[in-house]
Amino acid sequence: MFALAPSILAADFKNLGNGLEKIQKSGASYVHLDVMDGRFVPSISFGMPVIESIRSISNCVFDVHLMVEEPERYIDDFIACGGDSITIHAEATTHVSRAISQIKASGVKAGIALNPSTPLNVLDYILDQVDMVLIMTVNPGFGGQKYIDSSTRKITELRNLMNDCGLSTDIQVDGGITLDNVSTVIEAGANIIVAGSAVFQGDIEKNTKDFLRIMKNSILI
Ligand code: DX5
Ligand code: ZN
Repeated sequence: MFALAPSILAADFKNLGNGLEKIQKSGASYVHLDVMDGRFVPSISFGMPVIESIRSISNCVFDVHLMVEEPERYIDDFIACGGDSITIHAEATTHVSRAISQIKASGVKAGIALNPSTPLNVLDYILDQVDMVLIMTVNPGFGGQKYIDSSTRKITELRNLMNDCGLSTDIQVDGGITLDNVSTVIEAGANIIVAGSAVFQGDIEKNTKDFLRIMKNSILI
């Protein structure tokens, strides 16, 4: 399964409904929702009321990325307001395993995110319990940053590790993904592609379709 997950962080918030309709109509199957607490990351974005309000106008998978300190405090709230998949950061809680169990107990998908400098070995005793690993390809906190090149090797190593363990867990990439580098991350092993600026700046429908076309071609290679 391959999916494009446009991040609404880069959307025009006064026309959010319109942006969401455009990405869905053009073939995106996920919406990526970046929740920032002003503590785990410097910035503050949006929370439950916004997600609850847009839930009724989209059939996409609501993919909630919690850039929040001690995310276990809010897991149930983000499921209640419409999250289909909840991703927490390995760096944000002492009790990663408990937080993942908390997400899975509600029947939604659980993801674990790693900052660029966090090594893959933090996944050693948790990999078989998660539905998705999010490899951050920028330092989290802001949209519109440049892709960190060493991420490509990290994605490849993670996909190899999963193959060795017989796992087909989703690998999501997030940060600085553009039409120019999306085939690189897919060839490295990623299958869920987050893109904010590269989808929402300019012609949203064209950008979405261009992403999906390039993704499809990269999968066929
Ligand atoms: C960064 C966020 C990303 C961000 C991606 O902290 O997690 O999801 O919105 O934005 P672009 O695609 O513009 O780098
Ligand atoms: Zn994100």
